[in-house]
Amino acid sequence: MHNFDYTTPTRLIFGKDCISKLPEVMSGFGKKVLLTYGGGSIKKIGLYNKVRELLSGYGIVELSGIQPNPKYDPSVLDGVRLCKEHDIDVILAVGGGSVLDCSKAIAAGALYDGDPWDLISYKVKAKAALPIVDIITLAATGSEYDCGGVISRTDTNDKIGYIDEHLYPAVSFLDPVYTFTVPKNQTAAGCADAMNHIMEQYFCEDSSLLNDGFMEAGLKSLMVNAEKCIADPEDYNARAEMMLACTYGCNGIYALGNSQSCWPCHGMEHALSAYYDITHGEGLAIITPRWMKHILSAKTVDRFVKYGVNVFGIDSGLDRFDIAEKAIQATYDFFLSIGIPMTLREVGIDESRIGEMAHHVAENEGLENAWAPLTEKDIAEIFTASL
Ligand code: NZQ
Ligand code: ZN
Repeated sequence: MHNFDYTTPTRLIFGKDCISKLPEVMSGFGKKVLLTYGGGSIKKIGLYNKVRELLSGYGIVELSGIQPNPKYDPSVLDGVRLCKEHDIDVILAVGGGSVLDCSKAIAAGALYDGDPWDLISYKVKAKAALPIVDIITLAATGSEYDCGGVISRTDTNDKIGYIDEHLYPAVSFLDPVYTFTVPKNQTAAGCADAMNHIMEQYFCEDSSLLNDGFMEAGLKSLMVNAEKCIADPEDYNARAEMMLACTYGCNGIYALGNSQSCWPCHGMEHALSAYYDITHGEGLAIITPRWMKHILSAKTVDRFVKYGVNVFGIDSGLDRFDIAEKAIQATYDFFLSIGIPMTLREVGIDESRIGEMAHHVAENEGLENAWAPLTEKDIAEIFTASL
């Protein structure tokens, strides 16, 4: 087991009606709030009115219209400007991972004098950030429990995972009831995203029995509960368990002491959603089985055997490569069964920009250092196999 130095400063408040604690929580941060949200789902589910009612004594400035794959321009830039103009004390992000990620970049940019892209592109390290409170309405990214935010810049086709310890939310509210209205396609994409977060940590050189068991249980929980949520969107227990399994995703807790993997599928998917603005979880589901096939070798096979036997119950007595291939097929079949389009063409991507995207990934994502190293040629082959 490798050394680690781990902390998560985020307070999680979980369960039905938990946002009744919002006034108590917000009272610790000051009176001027930037309320951030997306395209209107929080109004449809009554959460917007509820928040306004609970915070009636606060000075609230709003930033709405934050899009999926949140954009640097205009959302981050507008948010930073609003924070500076109104001397904001705290950001309250209400929505999915995109709203929260955008709010994280705003929180850092608000306390920085230069161009916020300096921070997101790691040219300058943030010295501080405004506190962030969130009410997460979609189980997927785990942004509510981690210090990363993924920001897209349309003019350069960049989609950067901006990670900084100042970006942990101070408090995250998780009420599974607010996820009842998440449509089937986003529920499935959220499941694929969270499963891939686990796989990115599972497929590595050094792990432990403890971490493997935790991650295998996480994968099984996500599969069982996503199916239940799709069959009955108001199944509270299924939504609740899915929400918690997603929350652990990118926080590091699944793999304390493991060796690094470099998160290759995320590195590749971020190019797809930067160039084509597709749904992150769908891009991951499409790439994952093709990546698995591509890297299956004498060096990696035993990891796939463990995954196949423990997650999918494949007969451990079979040949090792048979087990691995069955496990990869089972992964593909599961994503297909929950309604995910499993080819790039179905999400509007053809071969025309594969070379360009593979080059971008090879230049920026460091995948030559991955558990199974990937060159530009490997990346292009995985994209091509995903068409
Ligand atoms: O914009 P609104 O109207 O709110 O609608 C959203 C959006 O259209 C809708 N939605 C959210 N909650 C809903 C709902 N619809 C009905 N009922 C609800 N309760 O769902 C759509 C998608 O929302 P979005 O926030 O984009 O989804 P998600 O949470 O999957 O976030 C995806 C973004 O997170 C990044 C992805 O790259 C992508 O940009 N990631 C962030 C990570 C992190 N911070 O740790 C890690 C991930 O790997 C990921 O890269
Ligand atoms: Zn992800």
